[in-house]
Amino acid sequence: MLHVMYHPLITHKLTQMRKKETGTKDFKQNLDEIAGLMAYEVCRDLPVKKVHIETPVCECDTYELAKEIVLIPILRAGLGLVNGINDLIPTAKVGFIGLYRDEETLEPHEYFAKFPSTMPSAVNLVLDPMLATGGSAVAAIDMIKARGAKTIKLVCLVAAPEGVKAVEEAHPDVDIYLAALDEKLNENGYIVPGLGDAGDRIFGTK
Ligand code: PRP
Ligand code: URA
Repeated sequence: MLHVMYHPLITHKLTQMRKKETGTKDFKQNLDEIAGLMAYEVCRDLPVKKVHIETPVCECDTYELAKEIVLIPILRAGLGLVNGINDLIPTAKVGFIGLYRDEETLEPHEYFAKFPSTMPSAVNLVLDPMLATGGSAVAAIDMIKARGAKTIKLVCLVAAPEGVKAVEEAHPDVDIYLAALDEKLNENGYIVPGLGDAGDRIFGTK
């Protein structure tokens, strides 16, 4: 299922990120803030379990999260979504997938993978600001399914319709969360209007 989060705060912050004059510091700060706002919605249906506790006043039945959360950023740009979500879920474990997109073929290439062993029983959030052709997200989800992950959500900032379609076709069981669904891809595989190269803008590499 596709969830596009139309919220004035998210849209306002994303607009700041889209502006070409926005520098690394403000780009990262807005990304952090959007990640926190998105986490609230992404976690809405997390399973909870009943627990019996004692407050300073009395004993009572209440609820806690029933499953561990694993954050899996797709390097590099996915790292930009980790802090904002981790602030809200400080107990989350973090795994990493290193993928880069070949600039000519647009095919993803794997260069790193490190995962927590709890992935099969956890709720796994795959993080990447950009869902363009969808090649990277599909490959990342393939990799974590191969390690036994069953509950997977894909959290992106901006997507092209082509990327959403690719993920929905390859992994119909994965919910996709976006801050915006943009118009299309251009001839270089960039999202239009998009925000440019997310990795370069986060890490100041151009
Ligand atoms: C970007 C982005 C995604 C991918 C999206 O990463 O962060 O991972 O491209 O494109 P796709 O949907 O067509 O696969 P990039 O490969 O530029 O690496 P970087 O994050 O290290 O800059
Ligand atoms: N990767 C990015 O960082 N930006 C795009 O628009 C497409 C892929």
